[in-house]
Amino acid sequence: MEKAARQIAKGNYNTRTIQKSGDELGSLARAINDLAFSLQRVNEQRREFFANISHELRTPMTYLKGYSKVLREGRWKTEEERNQYLEIIDHEATRLTYLVDDLFDLAQMDEGRFNLEHKKVNINEIIKLVVKKTAYKALDQNLKIEYLCELSDKEDSIVLGDPLRLEQVLINLVENAIKYTKEGSITIYTVSNDENIKIKVRDTGIGMEEDELPYIFERFYRVEKSRSRAFGGTGLGLSIVKQLIELHNGTIEVESTVGEGTEFTIILPKISD
Ligand SMILES: Nc1ncnc2c1ncn2[C@@H]1O[C@H](COP(=O)(O)OP(=O)(O)OP(=O)(O)O)[C@@H](O)[C@H]1O
Ligand SMILES: [Mg+2]
Repeated sequence: MEKAARQIAKGNYNTRTIQKSGDELGSLARAINDLAFSLQRVNEQRREFFANISHELRTPMTYLKGYSKVLREGRWKTEEERNQYLEIIDHEATRLTYLVDDLFDLAQMDEGRFNLEHKKVNINEIIKLVVKKTAYKALDQNLKIEYLCELSDKEDSIVLGDPLRLEQVLINLVENAIKYTKEGSITIYTVSNDENIKIKVRDTGIGMEEDELPYIFERFYRVEKSRSRAFGGTGLGLSIVKQLIELHNGTIEVESTVGEGTEFTIILPKISD
């Protein structure tokens, strides 16, 4: 066991000890094996994470380099063409900024030193704000966006949390809904009972296969790689959403049917004063 522990300490995480005996030694051996297994997994996840980050950074970088070179060398024919290239550069630079912000949030959450405000927040107000902010995107795609509020009064819509982070969560869900819907509508519902407030974001979009659903909250996970190329996301959005909701002692669930639409449900505990 000592030999095994030293091997594991050196980074040979596939080392295992014999764990047959049923006494204390056996249980120590099993603990060492569990430790080795956990380290192995963390290591794999770390490797995967860095590979993903490098990939995600490389794509916008290529555009930035490519189009700035075209502009520098004056290889454009019309003013319109030149503006198009500038727009691409601007768009990719913005994407990079978002990506870096997302990565920063994730790193902070991983270290458990994510600063979350704990204020009384009126969820109703936040949803209205989010609808206002995202309406132009929906309109651009001819989608209807509406908010159906079933919270009875002001007291009914108060949760304890961080207003900016809750807004970030809802913007993420609504932007996904818009991004993955070709025609129809996005509807946000709120209902509450004695203990909690439920917020639903429903769309009439492309939907997802049942067997994809358990993975969509994982970092960098996207349903079909081809889809993401067309829609241009990084697959970090929902993983951040889930972590933020859990930091608010809430939960998030999803239901979806291919070709019909998707519904995300957030459940947040209500505060009783
Ligand atoms: N409302 C939705 N309808 C259909 N598919 C969805 C919906 N929301 C999420 N998905 C699928 O889940 C995947 C993960 O979503 P997530 O928000 O984490 O990533 P993204 O939107 O691709 O990128 P990002 O949000 O980081 O820009 C998406 O790539 C998409 O395939
Ligand atoms: Mg997203």
